[in-house]
Amino acid sequence: MKALVIGSGGREHALAWKLAQSPAVSATYTAPGNYGSNVVGANVNIPVTEPEALANWALENHIDLTVVGPETALAYGVVDVFREKGLRAFGPTRAAAQLETSKAWAKAFMERHGIPTAPYRDFDNVDDAVRYLESLEQADYPVVVKADGLAAGKGVTIAADRHSAVAAARAALAPVRRGAQPRIIIEGFLEGSEVSFMAISDGNTVWPLSPARDYKYAFDGDTGPMTGGMGAYSPVASVDQALTDEIMDTLIKPTIAGMAAEHIPYQGVLYAGLMLTSSGPKVLEFNARFGDPETQVLLPRLDSDLYIVIDAALDGQLSELPPLRWSSDVTCGIVLCSEGYPGEIETGYGVLGLADVGSSSLVFHNGTRDPYVKGDELESPKLERTAKGGMMRGQGLGSWFLPSRSRSKSADKQAIRISRDPYSQIVTSGGRVLTVVGRGPTLSDARDAAYRAAEVISFTGAWCRTDIGAADLLEQAR
Ligand code: GLY
Repeated sequence: MKALVIGSGGREHALAWKLAQSPAVSATYTAPGNYGSNVVGANVNIPVTEPEALANWALENHIDLTVVGPETALAYGVVDVFREKGLRAFGPTRAAAQLETSKAWAKAFMERHGIPTAPYRDFDNVDDAVRYLESLEQADYPVVVKADGLAAGKGVTIAADRHSAVAAARAALAPVRRGAQPRIIIEGFLEGSEVSFMAISDGNTVWPLSPARDYKYAFDGDTGPMTGGMGAYSPVASVDQALTDEIMDTLIKPTIAGMAAEHIPYQGVLYAGLMLTSSGPKVLEFNARFGDPETQVLLPRLDSDLYIVIDAALDGQLSELPPLRWSSDVTCGIVLCSEGYPGEIETGYGVLGLADVGSSSLVFHNGTRDPYVKGDELESPKLERTAKGGMMRGQGLGSWFLPSRSRSKSADKQAIRISRDPYSQIVTSGGRVLTVVGRGPTLSDARDAAYRAAEVISFTGAWCRTDIGAADLLEQAR
Protein backbone atom coordinates (compact mmCIF):
# COMPACT_ATOMS: atom_id res chain seq x y z
CA MET A 1 0.00 0.00 0.00
CA LYS A 2 1.19 3.53 -0.74
CA ALA A 3 0.51 6.25 1.80
CA LEU A 4 0.57 10.02 1.36
CA VAL A 5 0.79 12.50 4.22
CA ILE A 6 -0.25 16.09 3.49
CA GLY A 7 1.66 18.81 5.33
CA SER A 8 5.20 19.89 6.14
CA GLY A 9 5.72 19.97 9.90
CA GLY A 10 6.86 17.77 12.75
CA ARG A 11 3.40 16.20 12.94
CA GLU A 12 3.63 15.13 9.30
CA HIS A 13 7.17 13.81 9.73
CA ALA A 14 5.92 11.76 12.71
CA LEU A 15 2.89 10.49 10.75
CA ALA A 16 5.06 9.43 7.81
CA TRP A 17 7.55 7.81 10.20
CA LYS A 18 4.82 5.82 11.94
CA LEU A 19 3.00 4.81 8.75
CA ALA A 20 6.28 3.64 7.21
CA GLN A 21 6.64 1.12 10.06
CA SER A 22 3.46 -0.69 9.03
CA PRO A 23 4.09 -4.00 7.23
CA ALA A 24 1.14 -3.02 5.03
CA VAL A 25 2.86 0.13 3.73
CA SER A 26 5.32 -0.19 0.85
CA ALA A 27 5.95 3.51 0.17
CA THR A 28 5.39 6.77 2.04
CA TYR A 29 5.18 10.25 0.52
CA THR A 30 4.76 13.66 2.12
CA ALA A 31 3.47 16.76 0.37
CA PRO A 32 5.24 19.12 0.52
CA GLY A 33 7.17 17.67 3.49
CA ASN A 34 10.50 18.70 4.95
CA TYR A 35 14.00 17.28 5.23
CA GLY A 36 12.94 14.68 7.80
CA SER A 37 9.93 13.35 5.91
CA ASN A 38 12.08 13.02 2.82
CA VAL A 39 14.38 10.68 4.71
CA VAL A 40 11.38 8.51 5.69
CA GLY A 41 9.93 8.37 2.18
CA ALA A 42 9.88 10.96 -0.57
CA ASN A 43 8.59 14.51 -0.66
CA VAL A 44 6.10 15.66 -3.27
CA ASN A 45 6.38 19.31 -4.20
CA ILE A 46 2.71 20.35 -4.04
CA PRO A 47 1.44 22.87 -1.49
CA VAL A 48 -1.34 21.96 0.96
CA THR A 49 -3.51 24.71 -0.51
CA GLU A 50 -3.86 22.91 -3.87
CA PRO A 51 -6.31 20.05 -3.26
CA GLU A 52 -6.91 19.38 -6.97
CA ALA A 53 -3.19 19.04 -7.70
CA LEU A 54 -2.71 16.84 -4.64
CA ALA A 55 -5.60 14.57 -5.62
CA ASN A 56 -4.44 14.32 -9.22
CA TRP A 57 -0.94 13.37 -8.05
CA ALA A 58 -2.44 10.76 -5.71
CA LEU A 59 -4.51 9.31 -8.57
CA GLU A 60 -1.58 9.21 -11.00
CA ASN A 61 0.65 7.58 -8.40
CA HIS A 62 -1.91 5.04 -7.14
CA ILE A 63 -1.93 6.27 -3.54
CA ASP A 64 -4.05 3.95 -1.40
CA LEU A 65 -4.45 6.13 1.67
CA THR A 66 -3.88 9.81 2.43
CA VAL A 67 -3.63 11.35 5.89
CA VAL A 68 -4.24 15.09 6.15
CA GLY A 69 -2.08 16.93 8.68
CA PRO A 70 -2.80 20.67 8.77
CA GLU A 71 -6.06 22.54 9.25
CA THR A 72 -5.31 24.72 6.22
CA ALA A 73 -5.65 21.73 3.89
CA LEU A 74 -8.95 20.78 5.59
CA ALA A 75 -10.21 24.34 5.20
CA TYR A 76 -9.38 24.10 1.48
CA GLY A 77 -11.60 21.02 1.29
CA VAL A 78 -8.86 18.54 0.50
CA VAL A 79 -10.85 15.59 1.88
CA ASP A 80 -13.91 16.53 -0.17
CA VAL A 81 -11.82 16.76 -3.36
CA PHE A 82 -10.09 13.42 -2.73
CA ARG A 83 -13.43 11.72 -2.05
CA GLU A 84 -14.98 13.16 -5.22
CA LYS A 85 -12.18 11.44 -7.13
CA GLY A 86 -12.72 8.15 -5.31
CA LEU A 87 -9.57 8.49 -3.18
CA ARG A 88 -9.31 7.48 0.48
CA ALA A 89 -8.36 10.54 2.55
CA PHE A 90 -8.41 10.53 6.35
CA GLY A 91 -9.66 13.73 7.93
CA PRO A 92 -12.92 15.63 8.23
CA THR A 93 -14.66 17.22 5.26
CA ARG A 94 -14.60 20.99 4.95
CA ALA A 95 -18.04 21.14 6.62
CA ALA A 96 -17.00 18.92 9.53
CA ALA A 97 -13.71 20.79 9.95
CA GLN A 98 -15.73 23.87 10.95
CA LEU A 99 -15.29 22.56 14.47
CA GLU A 100 -11.82 24.07 14.10
CA THR A 101 -12.08 26.56 11.24
CA SER A 102 -14.89 28.58 12.86
CA LYS A 103 -14.77 29.04 16.61
CA ALA A 104 -18.20 30.71 16.46
CA TRP A 105 -19.64 27.66 14.69
CA ALA A 106 -18.00 25.32 17.21
CA LYS A 107 -19.34 27.26 20.21
CA ALA A 108 -22.87 27.28 18.78
CA PHE A 109 -22.55 23.54 18.10
CA MET A 110 -21.45 22.89 21.70
CA GLU A 111 -24.37 24.95 22.96
CA ARG A 112 -26.81 22.96 20.78
CA HIS A 113 -25.48 19.65 22.12
CA GLY A 114 -24.89 20.53 25.76
CA ILE A 115 -21.12 20.03 25.58
CA PRO A 116 -19.44 21.70 28.57
CA THR A 117 -17.49 24.83 27.56
CA ALA A 118 -17.07 28.42 28.77
CA PRO A 119 -20.03 30.80 28.26
CA TYR A 120 -19.48 33.05 25.26
CA ARG A 121 -20.74 35.77 22.96
CA ASP A 122 -19.67 36.34 19.34
CA PHE A 123 -19.37 39.66 17.52
CA ASP A 124 -18.57 40.97 14.08
CA ASN A 125 -19.14 44.59 15.01
CA VAL A 126 -16.56 46.42 17.08
CA ASP A 127 -19.06 48.79 18.74
CA ASP A 128 -21.20 45.89 19.93
CA ALA A 129 -18.14 44.08 21.25
CA VAL A 130 -16.90 47.15 23.12
CA ARG A 131 -20.38 47.81 24.57
CA TYR A 132 -20.50 44.22 25.80
CA LEU A 133 -17.03 44.42 27.36
CA GLU A 134 -17.94 47.70 29.07
CA SER A 135 -21.05 46.09 30.53
CA LEU A 136 -18.94 43.50 32.38
CA GLU A 137 -17.84 44.01 35.97
CA GLN A 138 -14.12 43.78 36.83
CA ALA A 139 -15.01 40.54 38.64
CA ASP A 140 -16.01 39.08 35.26
CA TYR A 141 -12.43 39.46 34.05
CA PRO A 142 -10.20 37.94 32.78
CA VAL A 143 -12.01 37.16 29.56
CA VAL A 144 -10.67 35.37 26.51
CA VAL A 145 -10.84 37.15 23.14
CA LYS A 146 -10.48 34.78 20.19
CA ALA A 147 -10.33 35.62 16.52
CA ASP A 148 -12.69 33.41 14.53
CA GLY A 149 -11.02 31.39 11.80
CA LEU A 150 -7.56 29.89 11.60
CA ALA A 151 -4.70 31.65 13.36
CA ALA A 152 -2.01 28.95 13.83
CA GLY A 153 -2.61 28.99 17.59
CA LYS A 154 -1.89 32.70 17.82
CA GLY A 155 -5.35 34.34 17.67
CA VAL A 156 -6.14 34.12 21.39
CA THR A 157 -5.76 36.91 23.99
CA ILE A 158 -6.40 36.45 27.69
CA ALA A 159 -7.42 39.93 28.78
CA ALA A 160 -7.06 40.69 32.49
CA ASP A 161 -9.16 43.86 32.37
CA ARG A 162 -11.56 45.88 30.27
CA HIS A 163 -8.83 48.02 28.74
CA SER A 164 -6.83 45.09 27.32
CA ALA A 165 -9.99 43.24 26.26
CA VAL A 166 -11.22 46.26 24.28
CA ALA A 167 -7.79 46.62 22.66
CA ALA A 168 -7.76 42.93 21.69
CA ALA A 169 -11.31 43.12 20.32
CA ARG A 170 -10.52 46.23 18.28
CA ALA A 171 -7.36 44.66 16.85
CA ALA A 172 -9.09 41.40 15.94
CA LEU A 173 -12.08 43.13 14.38
CA ALA A 174 -10.05 45.56 12.29
CA PRO A 175 -10.89 44.56 8.72
CA VAL A 176 -7.65 43.21 7.33
CA ARG A 177 -8.75 41.51 4.16
CA ARG A 178 -11.00 42.91 1.49
CA GLY A 179 -14.31 41.07 1.50
CA ALA A 180 -13.68 39.17 4.73
CA GLN A 181 -15.74 40.20 7.76
CA PRO A 182 -13.67 39.41 10.87
CA ARG A 183 -15.51 37.85 13.78
CA ILE A 184 -14.52 37.33 17.40
CA ILE A 185 -15.59 35.22 20.34
CA ILE A 186 -15.46 36.65 23.83
CA GLU A 187 -15.67 33.90 26.41
CA GLY A 188 -15.22 33.30 30.10
CA PHE A 189 -11.79 32.36 31.42
CA LEU A 190 -11.61 28.78 32.69
CA GLU A 191 -9.25 27.91 35.52
CA GLY A 192 -7.55 24.55 35.88
CA SER A 193 -4.94 22.56 34.03
CA GLU A 194 -4.94 22.10 30.27
CA VAL A 195 -4.86 18.78 28.45
CA SER A 196 -4.75 17.91 24.76
CA PHE A 197 -7.19 15.07 24.35
CA MET A 198 -7.36 13.51 20.90
CA ALA A 199 -9.68 10.82 19.67
CA ILE A 200 -10.00 8.95 16.40
CA SER A 201 -13.46 8.67 14.85
CA ASP A 202 -14.88 6.71 11.94
CA GLY A 203 -18.03 8.84 12.01
CA ASN A 204 -19.80 6.74 14.65
CA THR A 205 -17.31 4.87 16.79
CA VAL A 206 -14.69 6.99 18.53
CA TRP A 207 -11.62 5.91 20.44
CA PRO A 208 -9.43 7.98 22.73
CA LEU A 209 -5.75 8.49 22.00
CA SER A 210 -3.43 8.75 24.98
CA PRO A 211 -3.62 12.21 26.63
CA ALA A 212 -0.86 14.77 26.14
CA ARG A 213 0.00 18.18 27.54
CA ASP A 214 1.36 20.89 25.28
CA TYR A 215 2.86 24.30 26.01
CA LYS A 216 1.42 27.11 23.93
CA TYR A 217 3.17 30.15 25.41
CA ALA A 218 6.53 31.10 23.97
CA PHE A 219 8.50 31.51 27.17
CA ASP A 220 9.16 29.70 30.45
CA GLY A 221 6.48 29.94 33.10
CA ASP A 222 3.75 30.26 30.44
CA THR A 223 4.68 33.83 29.58
CA GLY A 224 5.07 35.69 26.30
CA PRO A 225 3.04 35.35 23.13
CA MET A 226 1.02 32.31 22.07
CA THR A 227 2.64 29.94 19.61
CA GLY A 228 1.78 26.82 17.66
CA GLY A 229 3.26 24.78 20.56
CA MET A 230 6.67 24.80 22.25
CA GLY A 231 6.74 21.27 23.63
CA ALA A 232 4.59 18.42 24.88
CA TYR A 233 4.65 15.24 26.88
CA SER A 234 2.51 12.11 27.11
CA PRO A 235 0.82 10.50 28.97
CA VAL A 236 -0.59 12.95 31.54
CA ALA A 237 -0.67 11.20 34.91
CA SER A 238 -3.72 13.08 36.19
CA VAL A 239 -5.84 11.85 33.26
CA ASP A 240 -6.51 8.37 34.60
CA GLN A 241 -9.01 5.85 33.24
CA ALA A 242 -11.93 7.35 35.21
CA LEU A 243 -11.24 10.84 33.86
CA THR A 244 -10.73 9.45 30.34
CA ASP A 245 -14.15 7.81 30.57
CA GLU A 246 -15.70 11.06 31.81
CA ILE A 247 -14.12 13.04 28.95
CA MET A 248 -15.29 10.49 26.42
CA ASP A 249 -18.84 10.35 27.83
CA THR A 250 -19.43 14.07 28.39
CA LEU A 251 -17.40 15.68 25.58
CA ILE A 252 -16.08 13.45 22.83
CA LYS A 253 -18.91 10.98 22.20
CA PRO A 254 -21.59 13.71 22.32
CA THR A 255 -19.56 15.70 19.77
CA ILE A 256 -19.29 12.79 17.33
CA ALA A 257 -22.97 11.91 17.88
CA GLY A 258 -23.98 15.57 17.44
CA MET A 259 -22.10 15.84 14.16
CA ALA A 260 -23.74 12.64 12.91
CA ALA A 261 -27.17 13.93 14.00
CA GLU A 262 -26.56 17.16 12.04
CA HIS A 263 -25.64 15.05 8.96
CA ILE A 264 -22.02 16.22 9.05
CA PRO A 265 -20.39 12.94 10.10
CA TYR A 266 -16.98 13.49 11.64
CA GLN A 267 -14.35 11.10 10.36
CA GLY A 268 -10.80 11.88 11.42
CA VAL A 269 -8.95 12.90 14.54
CA LEU A 270 -10.89 15.16 16.88
CA TYR A 271 -8.54 17.16 19.09
CA ALA A 272 -10.20 18.68 22.13
CA GLY A 273 -8.16 21.28 23.97
CA LEU A 274 -9.56 20.80 27.47
CA MET A 275 -9.45 22.63 30.75
CA LEU A 276 -9.73 20.31 33.73
CA THR A 277 -11.73 22.60 36.02
CA SER A 278 -13.01 22.04 39.55
CA SER A 279 -16.44 21.43 37.99
CA GLY A 280 -15.20 18.87 35.48
CA PRO A 281 -13.50 18.87 32.06
CA LYS A 282 -14.57 21.61 29.62
CA VAL A 283 -13.73 22.28 25.99
CA LEU A 284 -11.47 25.27 25.36
CA GLU A 285 -11.36 24.62 21.63
CA PHE A 286 -11.67 21.89 19.06
CA ASN A 287 -9.10 21.14 16.40
CA ALA A 288 -10.00 18.90 13.48
CA ARG A 289 -6.65 17.07 13.20
CA PHE A 290 -3.65 15.67 15.02
CA GLY A 291 -1.86 18.26 17.20
CA ASP A 292 1.67 19.52 16.71
CA PRO A 293 3.83 18.87 18.76
CA GLU A 294 1.49 16.37 20.50
CA THR A 295 1.71 13.91 17.59
CA GLN A 296 5.49 13.79 17.90
CA VAL A 297 5.18 12.55 21.50
CA LEU A 298 2.13 10.34 20.95
CA LEU A 299 3.09 8.26 17.93
CA PRO A 300 6.35 6.93 19.43
CA ARG A 301 4.18 5.52 22.27
CA LEU A 302 1.60 3.95 19.94
CA ASP A 303 2.28 0.21 19.64
CA SER A 304 -0.68 -0.39 17.30
CA ASP A 305 -0.27 -0.22 13.52
CA LEU A 306 -1.43 3.31 12.56
CA TYR A 307 -2.13 2.31 8.97
CA ILE A 308 -4.52 -0.47 10.05
CA VAL A 309 -6.32 1.89 12.45
CA ILE A 310 -6.78 4.67 9.88
CA ASP A 311 -7.79 2.19 7.19
CA ALA A 312 -10.50 0.81 9.50
CA ALA A 313 -11.68 4.33 10.39
CA LEU A 314 -12.06 5.14 6.68
CA ASP A 315 -14.27 2.05 6.32
CA GLY A 316 -16.38 2.94 9.38
CA GLN A 317 -15.05 -0.18 11.09
CA LEU A 318 -13.16 1.02 14.15
CA SER A 319 -15.46 -1.08 16.32
CA GLU A 320 -14.08 -4.23 14.62
CA LEU A 321 -10.51 -3.58 15.84
CA PRO A 322 -8.99 -4.32 19.23
CA PRO A 323 -8.35 -1.20 21.38
CA LEU A 324 -5.25 0.87 20.63
CA ARG A 325 -2.11 -0.32 22.40
CA TRP A 326 0.19 2.22 24.07
CA SER A 327 3.63 1.86 25.58
CA SER A 328 3.74 2.71 29.29
CA ASP A 329 6.87 4.79 28.57
CA VAL A 330 6.69 8.55 28.85
CA THR A 331 7.75 10.78 25.95
CA CYS A 332 8.67 14.44 26.21
CA GLY A 333 9.19 16.74 23.21
CA ILE A 334 11.11 20.01 23.13
CA VAL A 335 10.60 22.33 20.17
CA LEU A 336 13.75 24.08 18.97
CA CYS A 337 12.82 27.40 17.38
CA SER A 338 14.36 30.05 15.17
CA GLU A 339 15.26 33.36 16.77
CA GLY A 340 12.26 35.68 16.76
CA TYR A 341 9.53 33.00 16.62
CA PRO A 342 6.52 33.47 16.80
CA GLY A 343 7.34 36.86 15.25
CA GLU A 344 9.64 37.55 12.35
CA ILE A 345 12.36 35.02 11.70
CA GLU A 346 15.19 34.39 9.29
CA THR A 347 15.69 30.97 7.78
CA GLY A 348 18.41 29.16 5.88
CA TYR A 349 20.79 28.45 8.78
CA GLY A 350 22.68 25.16 8.82
CA VAL A 351 21.55 22.64 11.46
CA LEU A 352 24.35 20.76 13.21
CA GLY A 353 24.58 17.90 15.67
CA LEU A 354 21.69 15.69 14.57
CA ALA A 355 23.95 12.71 14.07
CA ASP A 356 25.11 13.03 17.69
CA VAL A 357 21.67 12.62 19.23
CA GLY A 358 21.64 9.64 21.57
CA SER A 359 19.63 6.45 21.37
CA SER A 360 16.94 7.45 23.87
CA SER A 361 15.87 10.39 21.75
CA LEU A 362 14.29 11.00 18.39
CA VAL A 363 14.15 14.13 16.29
CA PHE A 364 11.19 15.13 14.15
CA HIS A 365 11.65 17.95 11.69
CA ASN A 366 9.19 20.86 11.79
CA GLY A 367 10.84 23.45 9.59
CA THR A 368 13.87 22.14 7.72
CA ARG A 369 14.84 21.64 4.14
CA ASP A 370 17.67 20.54 1.96
CA PRO A 371 19.41 23.68 0.74
CA TYR A 372 20.18 22.04 -2.58
CA VAL A 373 16.51 21.64 -3.42
CA LYS A 374 14.01 24.39 -4.07
CA GLY A 375 10.81 23.24 -5.68
CA ASP A 376 11.82 20.96 -8.50
CA GLU A 377 15.06 22.75 -9.09
CA LEU A 378 18.46 22.60 -7.53
CA GLU A 379 19.40 25.75 -5.73
CA SER A 380 22.89 26.87 -4.85
CA PRO A 381 23.52 26.23 -1.19
CA LYS A 382 23.64 29.42 0.87
CA LEU A 383 24.89 27.72 3.95
CA GLU A 384 26.40 29.25 6.93
CA ARG A 385 29.70 27.51 7.71
CA THR A 386 29.79 27.14 11.45
CA ALA A 387 32.59 27.08 13.94
CA LYS A 388 32.12 23.35 14.26
CA GLY A 389 33.65 22.93 10.85
CA GLY A 390 31.00 23.26 8.21
CA MET A 391 29.61 20.17 6.61
CA MET A 392 27.67 17.54 8.47
CA ARG A 393 26.30 14.21 7.44
CA GLY A 394 22.83 14.37 6.01
CA GLN A 395 21.11 12.10 8.50
CA GLY A 396 18.74 14.30 10.40
CA LEU A 397 17.20 11.69 12.69
CA GLY A 398 18.11 10.25 16.03
CA SER A 399 19.12 6.66 16.22
CA TRP A 400 15.58 5.55 17.04
CA PHE A 401 14.86 6.14 13.42
CA LEU A 402 13.85 2.94 11.68
CA PRO A 403 15.18 3.03 8.14
CA SER A 404 12.19 2.77 5.90
CA ARG A 405 11.74 -0.13 3.53
CA SER A 406 9.42 2.12 1.76
CA ARG A 407 11.60 4.37 -0.28
CA SER A 408 10.23 3.58 -3.70
CA LYS A 409 12.68 3.39 -6.57
CA SER A 410 10.02 4.15 -9.15
CA ALA A 411 10.31 7.75 -10.28
CA ASP A 412 7.31 9.89 -9.42
CA LYS A 413 7.34 12.87 -11.64
CA GLN A 414 6.79 15.49 -9.00
CA ALA A 415 8.53 13.82 -6.09
CA ILE A 416 11.58 15.81 -5.16
CA ARG A 417 14.67 13.64 -5.26
CA ILE A 418 17.11 14.80 -2.69
CA SER A 419 20.71 13.88 -3.19
CA ARG A 420 21.91 11.16 -0.84
CA ASP A 421 25.24 12.89 -0.83
CA PRO A 422 26.55 12.28 2.70
CA TYR A 423 27.84 15.84 2.79
CA SER A 424 24.49 17.46 2.09
CA GLN A 425 23.36 19.79 4.82
CA ILE A 426 20.08 20.59 6.49
CA VAL A 427 18.92 24.17 6.86
CA THR A 428 16.17 25.86 8.86
CA SER A 429 13.02 26.80 6.95
CA GLY A 430 10.50 27.80 9.62
CA GLY A 431 9.86 29.26 13.07
CA ARG A 432 9.58 25.87 14.70
CA VAL A 433 12.54 23.87 13.41
CA LEU A 434 12.77 20.53 15.24
CA THR A 435 10.92 18.56 17.90
CA VAL A 436 13.41 16.64 20.02
CA VAL A 437 11.64 13.75 21.76
CA GLY A 438 13.07 11.93 24.75
CA ARG A 439 11.66 8.68 26.06
CA GLY A 440 11.92 6.87 29.36
CA PRO A 441 10.06 5.06 32.10
CA THR A 442 9.21 8.36 33.85
CA LEU A 443 8.57 11.97 32.85
CA SER A 444 11.83 12.89 34.53
CA ASP A 445 13.77 10.38 32.38
CA ALA A 446 12.01 11.44 29.19
CA ARG A 447 12.58 15.11 29.91
CA ASP A 448 16.27 14.62 30.72
CA ALA A 449 16.76 12.63 27.51
CA ALA A 450 15.04 15.32 25.43
CA TYR A 451 17.05 18.20 26.89
CA ARG A 452 20.32 16.23 26.64
CA ALA A 453 19.64 15.61 22.96
CA ALA A 454 18.52 19.20 22.34
CA GLU A 455 21.83 20.42 23.77
CA VAL A 456 23.89 18.72 21.07
CA ILE A 457 21.88 20.28 18.22
CA SER A 458 22.74 23.77 17.09
CA PHE A 459 21.79 26.36 14.52
CA THR A 460 22.13 30.13 14.57
CA GLY A 461 19.56 31.67 16.94
CA ALA A 462 18.27 28.30 18.23
CA TRP A 463 16.27 28.46 21.44
CA CYS A 464 13.61 26.52 23.32
CA ARG A 465 11.59 26.64 26.51
CA THR A 466 13.55 25.14 29.36
CA ASP A 467 10.57 24.10 31.49
CA ILE A 468 8.65 21.58 29.40
CA GLY A 469 7.23 19.08 31.91
CA ALA A 470 8.91 20.80 34.88
CA ALA A 471 5.82 21.99 36.78
CA ASP A 472 4.21 18.60 36.28
CA LEU A 473 7.23 16.85 37.80
CA LEU A 474 6.94 19.07 40.87
CA GLU A 475 3.23 18.31 41.10
CA GLN A 476 3.87 14.58 40.81
CA ALA A 477 6.45 14.83 43.62
CA ARG A 478 3.91 16.45 45.97
N1 GLY B 1 -0.46 22.03 19.80
C1 GLY B 1 -1.58 22.79 19.41
C2 GLY B 1 -2.13 22.48 18.09
O1 GLY B 1 -1.75 21.55 17.42
O2 GLY B 1 -3.00 23.22 17.65
